[in-house]
Amino acid sequence: MTGRLQDRVVLITGSGGDIAKATALTLAREGARIVGTDIDAALAEATTTAVRNAGGEAASIALDLSDDAGAQEFSRFALERYGRIDAIVNNAKAARAGSGESTSPDAWRFTIDRNLTMPWLATRAAIPAIRAAQGSIVFIASVSGALFGTGYPGNTTNLVAYSTAKAGVLRLSVALANELGSAGVRVNTISPGVVETTATRRTYGDPGSPRRELATRPALLPQRIGRPQDIANGVLFLVSDEASWITGSDLRIDGGWAASGGVGPATDADLATVR
Ligand SMILES: NC(=O)c1ccc[n+]([C@@H]2O[C@H](COP(=O)([O-])OP(=O)(O)OC[C@H]3O[C@@H](n4cnc5c(N)ncnc54)[C@H](O)[C@@H]3O)[C@@H](O)[C@H]2O)c1
Repeated sequence: MTGRLQDRVVLITGSGGDIAKATALTLAREGARIVGTDIDAALAEATTTAVRNAGGEAASIALDLSDDAGAQEFSRFALERYGRIDAIVNNAKAARAGSGESTSPDAWRFTIDRNLTMPWLATRAAIPAIRAAQGSIVFIASVSGALFGTGYPGNTTNLVAYSTAKAGVLRLSVALANELGSAGVRVNTISPGVVETTATRRTYGDPGSPRRELATRPALLPQRIGRPQDIANGVLFLVSDEASWITGSDLRIDGGWAASGGVGPATDADLATVR
């Protein structure tokens, strides 16, 4: 039996993160060969080991992708190892919190760099090989890229540079979809709501806490926080042939958060006002 991604080579940036790890395992289960990179060597290695332990094929290299040399090296490593690149999943990020007033210029530049320039650099380096393979590109954006102000309850004025960068990622993806469509390359984004990962556990992890309640309430579906696997399932779909007529799109995976405008399902009291 062959998988939906049999023998395809998929690059994952920031491969040590929880969303990346779930994605690597999910894609490898469908036959993909995973090439990961992370600035944290131990985290990158842990994902590679997890894929191999599950019977999949993976390799990784520790790199700083914010640097063009690192971005170029990532694609070179994958090509040396497997001879082709079918897809890149831009997942790596690093951010400094702050409001429009409180964010320092250095923090602003760091956050725009790590969330907008970095995925562009990694993608740019991989484009020739992805074009040759008529492959696809996925950017992990965020609901906060389109819906800042309602995207992160309890944190609404605190992620200005991050949200601005993610808005740029949405635009970058559409621009690249236009640029590469005639070559048969598809380019899409996923916009997650709050997903429970090491990065967010500090803020939202404590069940029963007011922040956790604020993080779950805006979703329309029976209220839970997102899981890395929710995002991994979306990536699998977008890089598979089942999405062969999908490009320039954004797949929101947020339990209905954005559709509710960040305020959650209608209550009986709300409905009573429209009768
Ligand atoms: N977790 C959420 O709630 C959530 C919500 C919306 C969007 N997202 C997006 O999903 C993606 C993954 O999120 P996560 O919570 O798993 O993040 P995470 O911070 O756990 O993982 C990101 C990984 O990127 C790596 N990285 C950082 N700088 C790097 C660099 N210069 N070079 C190479 N690697 C680098 C980190 O070491 C880390 O392992 C991110 O793009 C994030 O913005 C997450």
